[in-house]
Amino acid sequence: MEANKTIFLEQIEDGLATKWLGRTIHFYDKVESTNLLAAELAQEDAPEGVVVLADQQLSGRGRGSRSWHSPAGVGIYCSVILRPQVEPEKGQLITLMAGVSIARAIERQSGLSPRVKWPNDVLINDKKVAGILLEARVSGARIGYAVIGFGINVNNGRGDLPEDIRVNASSLRMELKKTVDRGPLVIKIFSELEELYHNFQCGDLSVILEQWRHYSSTLGQRVRIWRKDKATEGLAVDLTENGGLLVRLAEGKQIVFHAGDIEHLKIL
Ligand code: BTN
Repeated sequence: MEANKTIFLEQIEDGLATKWLGRTIHFYDKVESTNLLAAELAQEDAPEGVVVLADQQLSGRGRGSRSWHSPAGVGIYCSVILRPQVEPEKGQLITLMAGVSIARAIERQSGLSPRVKWPNDVLINDKKVAGILLEARVSGARIGYAVIGFGINVNNGRGDLPEDIRVNASSLRMELKKTVDRGPLVIKIFSELEELYHNFQCGDLSVILEQWRHYSSTLGQRVRIWRKDKATEGLAVDLTENGGLLVRLAEGKQIVFHAGDIEHLKIL
């Protein structure tokens, strides 16, 4: 069992099996937001694969205007700089890729059965354990840099989760009923992400889409999708090539969503 944050970092440095991702890690005991720091580094020309990792975040950012509760010593708060040189429309695939990498790594390390929820969540037993936040800068017609940030509730107890999300959120420890080492989990995520990103860079999107479909908790579900204040309901049918969600409405028409907050509707 990892005892503290020093061992957390040492475990990663000792076990890292990637070629380039995570070969430079900026590790902090405490930061405002790893995504914010990674974006600053990217603007200063930090290369692809540089990572910002923290033991605690004071202003962890979530999607929309939400925050990501990031207490010390229990979670993974990590941001990776990528320079994918693709059209902005392909950005969504990076989020999906990160979701699959996290799900696969959790599955391999813990034996739990994680699922991905479109577009950016990882769930275990229908509860959110991880969230992904992609922040990209477009330059011309391409993505100049992308910061892919993920937060994972690893060893949080119930009291380490904010009260307003306790019903729908969980941690690996809470689901597994034992603590999980953060270092080996980070190592596995980096390896999975590096491999999927290689496919992405080669234009081979099929592996990413197939893997996402494999782990999906969204496809085949009745969903409600919120875009601003407007809700649309339908059946989540498939992913598009760019990682959009194809939804069939009651009247049979199909729409592609590229963003939005979704609810899985329980059929009673
Ligand atoms: C969400 O589910 O809304 C996305 C949450 C993303 C949180 C991570 S923690 C590491 C990185 N730094 C941040 O400030 N946010 C992301």
